Amino acid sequence: MALADFIQQLDDISSAAKAAFDAAADSDSIDVARIDFLGAKNGKLKAAQKGLGSVDKADKPEAGKRFNEVKNQVEAAFQAASDRVASGGAGGAGKSAEIFDPTLPGKRPRLGHLHPITQTIDELKDIMGRLGFSVADGPEIEDERHNFEALNIPADHPARDPLENFYLATAQKSQAGPLLLRSQTSTVQIRVMEETPPPVRIISLGRVYRPDTADATHYPMFHQIEGLLVDTKVTMADLKSVLRLFATSYLGHDVHVRFRPSFFPFTEPSVEADMSWNDNWIEFGGAGMVDPNVLSAVGYDPEEVSGFAFGLGIERLCMRRHNITDIRDLYKNDVRFLHQF
Ligand code: DAH
Repeated sequence: MALADFIQQLDDISSAAKAAFDAAADSDSIDVARIDFLGAKNGKLKAAQKGLGSVDKADKPEAGKRFNEVKNQVEAAFQAASDRVASGGAGGAGKSAEIFDPTLPGKRPRLGHLHPITQTIDELKDIMGRLGFSVADGPEIEDERHNFEALNIPADHPARDPLENFYLATAQKSQAGPLLLRSQTSTVQIRVMEETPPPVRIISLGRVYRPDTADATHYPMFHQIEGLLVDTKVTMADLKSVLRLFATSYLGHDVHVRFRPSFFPFTEPSVEADMSWNDNWIEFGGAGMVDPNVLSAVGYDPEEVSGFAFGLGIERLCMRRHNITDIRDLYKNDVRFLHQF
């Protein structure tokens, strides 16, 4: 058989099948058409397939390809007719007719929302804003002056150990000396005081980095809120009342706050602040009166001004507030978890 004749025959079958399936109004007539065209014994396609044997050898690949195409078309027409009848569509008398009910409530598109840490940051800014603190910003890549030296952390201090910090290898030879991912937001205290004469009253919130192994309470990246107030006659009593007010504003009036004597190179005296949680105390940050060495390092006169500073872990506050017990849950990006807050 000539290729053209074979193809003509296939095209005839295709259009006849489409017409038959389109016209079929119920499952019985679909079945009649199915047997007529797709029947394994005497179906029209089966018969056409037999003709394939008599096509010239050279034309066989093309003829086979066309046969498969038409077979797919006929099967698709059969499927479409079955679906139409099953869903009670045009002309169909389906059993499970799906009825569109315009009085039902619509499907609400799901809205995204802010990450719990971002929500916490916004709220903390709000609370401290009401106490008169404005927000300052600083870079996450820092030099040693701002991360250590001006904060009274000398070169041989263990906090500067390369194993305790993320030093940047590519920046080793930069003019400013080695650079690192900041390990604390106290850097911003220095940056602000270098630029502004006293009085200052700022907070700074952002990411800090330490090479800690992640566990329920540690993560190599976390967030801190830093606070700094420098003025004349600032006292430890001011620090304590600001931190208490801050903690109760964010966590509620039933939270207890206590201060323990501690040491930080950039404050003297220094305290650590704990908050109550499930009959326990957990630390939420450090604080103290700004060390005179720090004031001198930025050109302030320690005889004239004094100040307090604090640095708190934002994850801790957020976890306490929402009863989250594993910091890693905050950074798995599992929306089922994040959606709860
Ligand atoms: N920078 C300290 C840390 O990351 C926290 C801190 C303690 C900040 C005392 C302060 C402060 O401003 O006064 O561990």
